[in-house]
Amino acid sequence: MVKTESKNAIVVKNLHKSYKQLAVLKGISFSVERGSILALLGPNGAGKTTTIKILSTLLQADKGSATIEGYDVVKDSNEVRARIGLTGQYAAVDEYLTGQENLVMIGRLYHLDKKEVNRRATELIKQFDLVKASTRPVKTYSGGMKRRLDLAMSLIAAPPIIFLDEPTTGLDPRSRLVMWEIIKKLAAQGTTILLTTQYMDEADHLADNIIVIDGGKVIAEGDANSLKAKVGADHLDLTISKKSNFDDARRALKSEKIKVDAEQRIISIATKGGVKKLKQLLGKLEDAKIQVESVSLRRPTLDDVFLTLTGHGTTKTTDENDKEAK
Ligand SMILES: Nc1ncnc2c1ncn2[C@@H]1O[C@H](COP(=O)(O)OP(=O)(O)O)[C@@H](O)[C@H]1O
Ligand SMILES: [Mg+2]
Repeated sequence: MVKTESKNAIVVKNLHKSYKQLAVLKGISFSVERGSILALLGPNGAGKTTTIKILSTLLQADKGSATIEGYDVVKDSNEVRARIGLTGQYAAVDEYLTGQENLVMIGRLYHLDKKEVNRRATELIKQFDLVKASTRPVKTYSGGMKRRLDLAMSLIAAPPIIFLDEPTTGLDPRSRLVMWEIIKKLAAQGTTILLTTQYMDEADHLADNIIVIDGGKVIAEGDANSLKAKVGADHLDLTISKKSNFDDARRALKSEKIKVDAEQRIISIATKGGVKKLKQLLGKLEDAKIQVESVSLRRPTLDDVFLTLTGHGTTKTTDENDKEAK
């Protein structure tokens, strides 16, 4: 039952939250359309988990409001809890129980009857590719399996809305892809999904809409394409042949707005200049007697977007302009 006719399953208005002196959320607002995937994208410490905790009634905001299917997360917390599933950043499974037992335990907590719990548990085990493992204690599971079980547990009561807090952080690439497929299937079945992530590619791949948060504020929102369009320019990646030449190359291109990855020997330049600009840049490197191993021109990624918007990256890549600004 939904209380509201609105197309939005989740509406968040002007949330503020401080932990003692530390202001973590400084007025966050967004909404999530029913049946869509929204990614809350931001670096470590941006306030993602705090937001999820407020929406899932585990924490109260200092100011602002949030509703789930029209129900207020504070005043109607029971109604809210009946409609949501939550998978935390760290899997909350009991290591000593088997996968099947974990699911049944959670089902009983939701007061589902025994027959229904068993039916649902078996269905989820199949759906999440845990059939063989279901009778083994969870402590024998891989990280990816634990995460899948945790998600299955949050789905036992078939909630229309689920919160996924960094669902793939710490997973190996294969488990990550499996998780992505599961998330996409859930959305295709009509579940509204709010997920948090620090990975641009995850938001790019999964989300219908992206809310970029940094320092407790929403700094951009839109779908992946519209965010990329904000950056405007294409990116030119120059790979320098020799590591020993890298600092010289950086100096030769000092007048450009560059981003460097010393490890991979790549210098990236945002440019609208196309081939003409490319010629000019290669000329500068040639004058400095620096060999270029490869050149590629690519559309901006969400990483570039983040860098452009915040002036700092989310990955280890160092930003030349950032350094100079200090
Ligand atoms: N219970 C707490 N007490 C004090 N500070 C906290 C608490 N929980 C989180 N913080 C701080 O609030 C900020 C935001 O945390 P969090 O919401 O967990 O960010 P994210 O999930 O985006 O990494 C961080 O600086 C974190 O250290
Ligand atoms: Mg977090």
